[in-house]
Amino acid sequence: MADALTQIDAVAQQADQELAAVANAAQLEQFRIKFLGAKGSIKGLMTLLGQAPKDQKPLIGQRVNALKDRVTEAFEARKTALASSGGEAPAVDVTEPGLRPAIGGRHILMKVADELTELFGRMGFALASGPEVEDEFHNFIALNIPASHPARDPLDNFYLAPETGEGQSTALDRTPDEQLMLLRTQTSTVQIRVMERTKPPIRVVIPGRVYRPDTHDDTHLSMFHQLEALVIDRDVSMVDLKSTILQFVHAYFGPETRARFRPSFFPFTEPSGEVDVWFDFPGGKSRWVELGGCGMVHPNVLKAVGIDPEVFSGWAFGFGIERIAMRKYGISNIRQFVENDIRFLRQF
Ligand code: DAH
Repeated sequence: MADALTQIDAVAQQADQELAAVANAAQLEQFRIKFLGAKGSIKGLMTLLGQAPKDQKPLIGQRVNALKDRVTEAFEARKTALASSGGEAPAVDVTEPGLRPAIGGRHILMKVADELTELFGRMGFALASGPEVEDEFHNFIALNIPASHPARDPLDNFYLAPETGEGQSTALDRTPDEQLMLLRTQTSTVQIRVMERTKPPIRVVIPGRVYRPDTHDDTHLSMFHQLEALVIDRDVSMVDLKSTILQFVHAYFGPETRARFRPSFFPFTEPSGEVDVWFDFPGGKSRWVELGGCGMVHPNVLKAVGIDPEVFSGWAFGFGIERIAMRKYGISNIRQFVENDIRFLRQF
């Protein structure tokens, strides 16, 4: 009797140990055959019953049955655990550090554009936008850039071929009233669109993409972004223009930032200027960097949209957003904005 019980305990212990070592489905099946199969060790224990004296049979039978139930149950539990962990154990190493999910973020240029619109918003400017595919009226004519102007050269613009079905015409071989479409070269187009649909007083900023067939280098891309501003009201003067731009420069880059205005020329402003900001670059490379152009809106522009230049005046500017971002965040190569290098993008 003691012998039989010892044997039962030995099988129980062995089953527990071997089940704990099972690491995959194949090993689990071997375990099943060895302990629970028709010729397995637990079945083998039944022979003890046959040999045992009659009065001991119930106890031995009970013990063997209990062992069989317990091992079957443990086997099933192991099977479920292996299945849910893809068949390999250990199923989960709870001591392993977690992986931080990459949720992405806004591109640095979009963040800067948001910062700028927010800043100008606090100065009373509304947000406006217009199409990137434009007609020549909005990109040139209404902005006082006549047909003969070199800025309209096909080599300096991305014209879209009109679908005439008779081959492609070019900017140079068409009738005077034929309007070509092009990718806008400046956000000044939206000045016209805003004035067409809004009566003065007007006070808007327009962030947006512009396109030019430029050769790429550290400061030029064929697609970049501008922040345009337009103010139209009665008695608007150069003083408003200058003080607003200086206020912006000091608020965005810091109160100590130096800025200067230089005379310039644009067909749609008179007088016209350019704005430079002093960039403090390390290694003796500090220098003036041009943000963009500005000026008092030309009377011809106002006339083109039916605003009386005798009653209203205005000013405008168009600054490069990449330049602003480069100055603000110390970025030296404009290509980094479009290379999608995650190591660059993650810094912001
Ligand atoms: N549109 C000009 C450019 O892309 C920049 C510019 C100059 C915009 C003067 C203006 C302005 O609004 O008044 O080079």
